[in-house]
Amino acid sequence: MTSDLAGARILVTGAAGFIGFHCAGALLAAGAEVVGMDNLNAYYDPALKEARVELLSRHSRFALHRQDLAAPGAAAAIAALRADYVLHLAAQAGVRYSLTDPAAYLKSNMDGFLSVLEACRAAPPKHLVYASSSSVYGLNAALPFSEHAGADHPLSLYAATKRANELMAHTYAHLFGLPSSGLRFFTVYGPWGRPDMAYWRFTRAILAGETVELYAAAEMQRDLTYVDDVVAAILRLLPLAPAGDPGFDATRPDPASSTAPYRVLNIGNHTPVPLPELLATIEQACGRRANVVHKPRQPGDGLRTWAAVDDLAALTGFAPRTRLADGMARFVAWYRAHHGA
Ligand code: UGA
Repeated sequence: MTSDLAGARILVTGAAGFIGFHCAGALLAAGAEVVGMDNLNAYYDPALKEARVELLSRHSRFALHRQDLAAPGAAAAIAALRADYVLHLAAQAGVRYSLTDPAAYLKSNMDGFLSVLEACRAAPPKHLVYASSSSVYGLNAALPFSEHAGADHPLSLYAATKRANELMAHTYAHLFGLPSSGLRFFTVYGPWGRPDMAYWRFTRAILAGETVELYAAAEMQRDLTYVDDVVAAILRLLPLAPAGDPGFDATRPDPASSTAPYRVLNIGNHTPVPLPELLATIEQACGRRANVVHKPRQPGDGLRTWAAVDDLAALTGFAPRTRLADGMARFVAWYRAHHGA
């Protein structure tokens, strides 16, 4: 399937970000031409983003456009690229930070996404694939989380913007026939990852002999997903644009389907991990124990995540399956090498 991507021109927004960097590298390896777009903002250390871009830029089929997707003229700049496929991964990420700077989420995730949609309206790609989030499941407690259940009770503004993106994509699928797939990522981790996430913070603190903060450890579990699995799923999905479902029953609408070419899909490991087990796995990979301080559940955090992956497997013949201990050992090895720790 990935052979469909050889020679294709693919726009990857957020190419300097964690998942975008990995996808861009894999797309280049599959023979695609990759146009990266990123504003390299300072939500976390821009040097990490620069280092990712430096690696990608060694490839002759990669170019980076430094562009803020929420800025005026962004839609025209994207449309001018005439991409065959658009992989939109740029966003203001992070659940808890959306309580600190809510405006950043509206700007990046709403205005930025509108720019992408308007660009796709003007210069239609074969398929728009964009990042949604497991956090859209919010208050839902029926596990594993299914795309066929509603997702209408978000717990953070971050989650609300990601759910809003799915709804916006549906309108463009309906109005303009833009085929799109919204990918609900489940706590993605791995080398070249995001310093604001728990696994990175735990690793950094353990290796520096600092204190690890555990939020509501007894209650929390996450379906942590290794980045290579996410990339493998995305490469299989890109050529598979959805079509409208002629059997769609509008009197009992399935949230995961439509008459329009619209799809939402979980990408998760299908293996929920309690927070103390995540910490123990990282301690093992670091070969050191953590100094732990227990803190209450943080506002905006969901309790448990667990992805149903039947739809992903049926569509692509693939579902993530990397064991946490294996993926985390690779992350810690990378972290040590990258930081000389
Ligand atoms: C992560 C990403 O940050 C989001 O961008 C993404 O959309 C989301 O996954 C998703 O899957 O939808 P989250 O699951 O909250 O969000 O991941 P972490 O920030 O790594 O937090 C995981 C757990 O560790 C949470 O229960 C959190 O409260 C806890 N945590 C976090 C701690 O106990 N201590 C910390 O220092 C940080």
